[in-house]
Amino acid sequence: MIGMKTLRECVKEAQERKVAIGHFNISNTEGLWGVFRAAQSLSVPVIIGVSEGERDFIGVKQVVALVKSLREEFQYPIFLNADHCYSFEKVKEAIDAGFDSVIYDGAKLPFEENVKIAKQCVEYARASGRDVLVEGELGYIGTSSKILDSVPEGVDLSEKSLTDPNKAREFVEATGVDMLAPAVGNFHGMLRGGVDPKLNVERINKISETVGIPIVLHGASGNSEDDVRQAITNGMVIIHINTEIRVAFRQGLMKGLSENPDEVAPYKYLRPAVQAVEDVVAKKLKLFNNL
Ligand code: G3H
Ligand code: ZN
Repeated sequence: MIGMKTLRECVKEAQERKVAIGHFNISNTEGLWGVFRAAQSLSVPVIIGVSEGERDFIGVKQVVALVKSLREEFQYPIFLNADHCYSFEKVKEAIDAGFDSVIYDGAKLPFEENVKIAKQCVEYARASGRDVLVEGELGYIGTSSKILDSVPEGVDLSEKSLTDPNKAREFVEATGVDMLAPAVGNFHGMLRGGVDPKLNVERINKISETVGIPIVLHGASGNSEDDVRQAITNGMVIIHINTEIRVAFRQGLMKGLSENPDEVAPYKYLRPAVQAVEDVVAKKLKLFNNL
């Protein structure tokens, strides 16, 4: 057992140790068990992420209760993040429901508008009476965790379009966010074939040094192990994986169904799906935690 720490303490510790906390998205309890078992087997803290769509499916209040039940029963540092909220209302809903952290994603909006709403989210979090971490986004990296035939529309990987370190500092100072998700050559989803373009490690380093708060790598499905390792050494403190989990879950489900064509008990044919999630997550956690 690794004791009960808050998310803020775990993030600080990861930052000091130059490792990263894994953030994994789920849509159901099978995904949750897969992620939890992987983390538990390695004794590392973990963050469960649910996007607006994912939490509508599993239930906003229900996912809070599920994660809380694991945290309490196993005295385990497992946390819940409201991933990519596109409005203040969605942030408010998540904070009211008991999430540990929220992401306000105004990356598509003009800078001033993004600042205004992110600041409103921070103020709401601070007034909640709980220590809810707020993450802001600067730089557009696409929106969906899926298999892609090309880089998502609107995402430009050239250096001039990546997050500018000085603009990032201005954003952080104006909003008071606890963490920042920049665009550094990353994007949501994964290219068919499973290998995404290289991350811009120099830019990660520059942003991390300039903003002085933890930075978060989104869209890490498809990025090479070497790229991810360098991203961590250069300042990424939380790493998000979704597409690779979705692919694993689907493959596991298909295996479970095809190997048991007459089985109708979900807890039997879904077992390989849970295992597939656990395997992917364990592999990522070893990488993120230098194990
Ligand atoms: O917030 C979710 C992540 O950034 C997931 O990105 O699907 O490319 O792994 P990914
Ligand atoms: Zn993301």
